[in-house]
Amino acid sequence: MGKLAWLTDPHFDMLNTEQLRELVETWSTRTVDGLLITGDIADGENLLPVLTLLDEKLPYPIWFILGNHDYYGTSIQLQREAVRQWCDSTRDTTWLANASYIGLSKNTALLGHGGWADGGYGDFHGSEIGLNDYRLISDLTGHDKVELARRLSDLGRDAAETIERQLTGAFQSHSHIILATHVPPFIESCWYQGQATVNEWTPHFSCKAVGDCLRDLAKSYPEHSIHVYCGHTHSSGVAQIEPNLRVTTGGATYGQPALQPEILFK
Ligand SMILES: [Fe+2]
Ligand SMILES: [Fe+2]
Repeated sequence: MGKLAWLTDPHFDMLNTEQLRELVETWSTRTVDGLLITGDIADGENLLPVLTLLDEKLPYPIWFILGNHDYYGTSIQLQREAVRQWCDSTRDTTWLANASYIGLSKNTALLGHGGWADGGYGDFHGSEIGLNDYRLISDLTGHDKVELARRLSDLGRDAAETIERQLTGAFQSHSHIILATHVPPFIESCWYQGQATVNEWTPHFSCKAVGDCLRDLAKSYPEHSIHVYCGHTHSSGVAQIEPNLRVTTGGATYGQPALQPEILFK
């Protein structure tokens, strides 16, 4: 049985360097096949310094995707290019959105993309919620709601296209997929304060484009199974979407990064 340590929404920029080093030291003694991080690792400025420290100190591979906070203070394109270049210089840390898929065992493959809260579920135009994303990520600032909705929708579609490509490739050789994304892809997986129902936050907490793609693929490949791991809402829960499609959303508390229960695979 293989084992992955799983971390979501650690927001490491809220810790000082000493606190971060201490935590990483504790985690470094784990016996696991690797660490999966499902986004909101830090903010734009601190992302690469944090990843560098993790890469240096942890003795196992790291697979990660980016969350919305990882772009704060910069632009999506600039940050993605910086992360791509940084990954070229590391040996054992992989940005899943930049890879096809990782074979973890004969049966199981790992793949992923951060996704984006695309406004597809709930009432985006009626919601009064103004995420910091719309102030702190340059691609999303200064637009009216119609243009903002268009940009969010494009980001969701781009994520779905990447995931569809990765999944159809991985399905040729692996029957079980561990799929990492940041934003919950279904209303049923969009946990908030212990519930997964539509509310004002839903359009900003879910990615319908990825959800639609996953549901279609799960139905087209009934002999395969997909287990999605995500975060973003900081509230935990499990949702069975199809017989072969399950989503686990991890909880988080700002300033107190903690590992989730380990992910087991055959
Ligand atoms: Fe977060
Ligand atoms: Fe997030």
